[in-house]
Amino acid sequence: AAAGAAPGPLAGRTVVITAGGTREALDPVRYLGNRSSGKQGVALARAALAAGARVRFIAGSMSVPVPEGVERAVHVESTAELLTAVLEQAADADVLVMAAAVADFRPAEASESKMKKGDDGSSPVIVLERTEDVLATAVRTRAAGGPMAPLIVGFAAETGDAESSVLEYGRAKLARKGCEMLVVNEVGRDKVFGRDETAVTILFADGSPAVEAAGSKDEAAAAVVGAVVDRLAASAP
Ligand code: CTP
Ligand code: CA
Repeated sequence: AAAGAAPGPLAGRTVVITAGGTREALDPVRYLGNRSSGKQGVALARAALAAGARVRFIAGSMSVPVPEGVERAVHVESTAELLTAVLEQAADADVLVMAAAVADFRPAEASESKMKKGDDGSSPVIVLERTEDVLATAVRTRAAGGPMAPLIVGFAAETGDAESSVLEYGRAKLARKGCEMLVVNEVGRDKVFGRDETAVTILFADGSPAVEAAGSKDEAAAAVVGAVVDRLAASAP
C-alpha cells in the first residue's frame, strides 16, 4: 500500500460516490429538485473510507455536510454537471457508486431572467425534456472501450405499484441499466428520504444471490461496501 494509506480491504482502491439531488434551473432563482438528503451517500463514503479506500465524493444538493477524509469533493448542481464530473472522476477509479437522486426531466428552456407573474392572471406551462442518464452513459462509455470504473453500482428508489413489486422493478432496472450491482430501496414521502433508517436489497448482474440489509443507513452502506469488497477480491488493486 502507498505511504499513509489506511489498511483495509479497499486499500489501494479508488471509489467515486455521487450523492444528494440534482437541481434543474427554471430561471436564475428557481429550480426543479428532489427530496434527497445525501445521507446514504455520506454513509457509503464513510464505509468506503473505513475500508481503506480513496474516496472521491460528487455532491449534488445535500442537507448534510460532505464527509471528512475524502480525497476529492466535487460540487454539482444539474444533471449535465453531474455527468461531466462522473466521466472525469470515475475514468481511472475502481468503483462508481451512483447514490445521487438524479432528475429525469429538466425544463426544456431555462429563462435567463426571473420569471414574472404578469398582470393578466395567467399561469405558465413548463415544458420538460429528458436529462442525460448518467449511469447508463457510464456503462455505455465503458462498453465502447472508454475509460470507466470496472464496477458500477446503481441505486433504485422504487415504490412498487399495482403492476409490479419493488423487487420486480429492481431486477428489470438492473438489466436495463447494465451495471454490475443495483441497490434497491423502497421509498415514499415519509420513507427513506431524509430519514436515518432504511432497508435495501442488493441485486447482482452476475446472478449472485441478493443480499438484504435493514437498519440504519450506515448498516445499508456497510452491506454495499461489503458486496463491493467481494466483487473486487478477485482482481489485484
Ligand atoms: N440515474 C442516472 N441518471 C439519470 C437518472 C438516474 O444516473 N438521469 C441513476 C441513479 O443515480 C440511480 C439509477 O440511475 O443510481 C436508478 O435511478 P432511478 O431513478 O431509480 O431509475 P430511472 O432509470 O431514472 O427510472 P425511473 O425513475 O423511471 O424508475
Ligand atoms: Ca429516475
